[in-house]
Amino acid sequence: MIIDPWGNQKYEYEKLFENFGIEKFSDELWKDFPNPPFFFRRNIVFGHRDFERIKEAIKKKEKWAILTGLMPSGKMHFGHKIVIDQVIYYQSLGADINIAVADIEAYATRGYSLKEAEKIAIEEYILNYIALGLKPCRIYFQSKNEDVKDLAYILAKKANLSQVNAIYGFQGSTNMSHVFAPFIQIGDILHVQLEKYGSLRPTLVPVGVDQDPHIRFCRDIADAHRLYSIVPQNGKVGIFVKVGENVKELLDKAEEAVAGVGKILERKDDYKAIYAEVDNIYKLDFELAKIERNYNEYAFILPSSTYHRFISGLDGNKMSSSRPQYALFLTDEPQEIKKKIWTAKTGGRVTAEEQRKYGGKPEECMIYELFTYGIVESDKELLEIKNKCKKGEMLCGECKKYAYQLIKEFLENLKEKRESARDEIKEYLS
Ligand code: TRP
Ligand code: SF4
Repeated sequence: MIIDPWGNQKYEYEKLFENFGIEKFSDELWKDFPNPPFFFRRNIVFGHRDFERIKEAIKKKEKWAILTGLMPSGKMHFGHKIVIDQVIYYQSLGADINIAVADIEAYATRGYSLKEAEKIAIEEYILNYIALGLKPCRIYFQSKNEDVKDLAYILAKKANLSQVNAIYGFQGSTNMSHVFAPFIQIGDILHVQLEKYGSLRPTLVPVGVDQDPHIRFCRDIADAHRLYSIVPQNGKVGIFVKVGENVKELLDKAEEAVAGVGKILERKDDYKAIYAEVDNIYKLDFELAKIERNYNEYAFILPSSTYHRFISGLDGNKMSSSRPQYALFLTDEPQEIKKKIWTAKTGGRVTAEEQRKYGGKPEECMIYELFTYGIVESDKELLEIKNKCKKGEMLCGECKKYAYQLIKEFLENLKEKRESARDEIKEYLS
């Protein structure tokens, strides 16, 4: 089983924990956050890697960064909105926000020219991001950032063709720009930790779960460039020097770093190892990475990630701009919205009479799913809708009318904000 970032598969989310080692995004992770947003409360963000590191940075008011990306192909729909909802929330918590426009990827994998990709990025995505409430931050185009492209090329040295094929299932006929696209994405993710872009700091990549192969790959590549490896074992940690040069010096410095966060148990020069007891492994990792920077400018803290569930299309399959009749776009006119909502798959019964008697099935209903993805903000109201549906007190016609009303108002408001966003766009594009 592979996850194909360019495919259109439906995911069995439960299997991803076992098969790929994605961690569950438990309530513990966000419970102390201010105003927890709907995507946490409703488990729409369901998985992560190393989110604890971010949580700690937030708690201790340390610097941390967000890096995520948008693929400028097709129109922005409600499924795309969920990433930016998260970015806006993290911005309110003090994250340094960086957004990559994946124009190289759109060129390599979707056949858009860079010019077309630019237009789509601005008209469809960036204007909507601002309209949705994103405050000034850094949005850049892959094709225009030399540091990202250089980093992609340089880091690619520690990956080989078999590895890439095993992760992505590339074929002999896959074009080489496409093969290189994951490296550009790695360049995106890690460049924010270059000196010029804010240096070493925890970096969170909020994405849909289809992007996990890139995250895994990026973490592997970042790890391959580290000089130390840190191996936790039975409450202790082993710190190993992975390289052949400067071993004694690196061990000396690691000893100093450990002194700040715990205590040394043993040093074994012939094993190139130090064994220690530390309470905070993230702090240790950070201190070691800082040491490494004096020897290697490509030492990075492994990026953290979160994964959200994809919103379904109105027919129950994945929402996608390639099937526009089943997607709700942020630029849809009220008439289109009405039509789409009217034909949406619901959890309703065949006849009104049956529905009054047996109730509907909100868990199978695309309208209800839209409500959960933020159209209805209040949990209390959401629960009321669910209960009324299940008891047959509300029929699908009425429910759809309400959904239409909410979405129409939301989109009309957004449209207005998009108009004024045009003047602000300069504050985002670097
Ligand atoms: N590959 C992403 C997509 O298809 C876009 C992207 C490019 C991205 N660079 C990124 C996402 C870096 C997260 C981080 O949507
Ligand atoms: Fe869905 Fe509403 Fe119908 Fe229930 S009443 S099945 S929530 S449309």
